[in-house]
Amino acid sequence: MILNSCELGRIFLAPLSGVADSPFRRICKRFGADTVYTEMVSAQGLTRCNRRTADVFEFVEEERPIGVQIFGTDPGRMADSAAIIESDKPDFIDINLACPARKIVARGAGCALMREPLRVGEIARAVIGATGLPVTAKMRLGWDREHINAVRLTQILEDCGVAAVSVHGRTWKQRFSGQASWSEIAEVKRTVGIPVILSGDIFSADDAERALRETGCDAVMVARGVYGRPWIFRSIHRHLAGRPAQEPSVSEKLDVILAHLDLAIMQYGERLAAVRFRKHLLWYTKGVPGVVALRPAMSLVESRREIEEVLSRLLA
Ligand SMILES: Cc1cc2nc3c(=O)[nH]c(=O)nc-3n(C[C@H](O)[C@H](O)[C@H](O)COP(=O)(O)O)c2cc1C
Repeated sequence: MILNSCELGRIFLAPLSGVADSPFRRICKRFGADTVYTEMVSAQGLTRCNRRTADVFEFVEEERPIGVQIFGTDPGRMADSAAIIESDKPDFIDINLACPARKIVARGAGCALMREPLRVGEIARAVIGATGLPVTAKMRLGWDREHINAVRLTQILEDCGVAAVSVHGRTWKQRFSGQASWSEIAEVKRTVGIPVILSGDIFSADDAERALRETGCDAVMVARGVYGRPWIFRSIHRHLAGRPAQEPSVSEKLDVILAHLDLAIMQYGERLAAVRFRKHLLWYTKGVPGVVALRPAMSLVESRREIEEVLSRLLA
């Protein structure tokens, strides 16, 4: 999949707030994630020059191609934030029309915008007018089963000049429950001319291959399927190339965990990195015999040494 002559590939790491920060994105890139996204950035926070907001979209060259995702509700602020982000030269800017979180939706942002197609058009035009970068958008199927409008909204976005859309095959009402409806994403793909990226329920190499084949979408995104398994990108690429699966050995997994941790330490300092790493540790070790007894210790780690200790107890 190509955007403005930038090759984005077919297997993306989805935007994942609180999970896919720069250290994790870099690990995913090493395993073959073709394109990644930053965690979503608040247009309001950014235009008020909130330093913490700006930290969320910091990235390194190794992460390219990368999209910075913005959320908000005011077209002017969204445009201003796109102009600020442009100076960091990401490969594209993505507008969030998908987030179901109550605090975001209550402010009229994220998935709440799917109920306001006119405003979506205003935002898209304002953002596109403010930046020379390609602009994409990420949405859901609609607000609820009675209001499915991903096709209509994508047509509006396409008319405004949006370069591609990604569609999570659930409604706002579903949040993350039930099964993602790939057939409705396929309908979006059939109806519009711009590239469509599928999101929802990609948990294995087979899922990725089937989703691409059954829907004709240009790319798929891995979201919860990457928890504790950044090597899923390697599995998908091997499967698509008709090569046998290559599960990582225990020692490769250990190397990955420590490489991820070290990148996090470089980014946040040791204590904060260890605290932020707790959830990754739980995911990386899920299903390992004996892990249940070690979970309380994992939830308290505060240093690299403590993490190494927990891992060696697990291996013992
Ligand atoms: C913890 C978490 C954080 C997420 N953060 C974002 C986000 O910042 N922006 C966004 O567009 N989607 C976000 N999503 C949605 C995912 O990108 C994806 O569309 C969704 O999880 C469906 O894919 P899955 O069924 O493969 O998990 C998030 C999902 C999860 C579980």
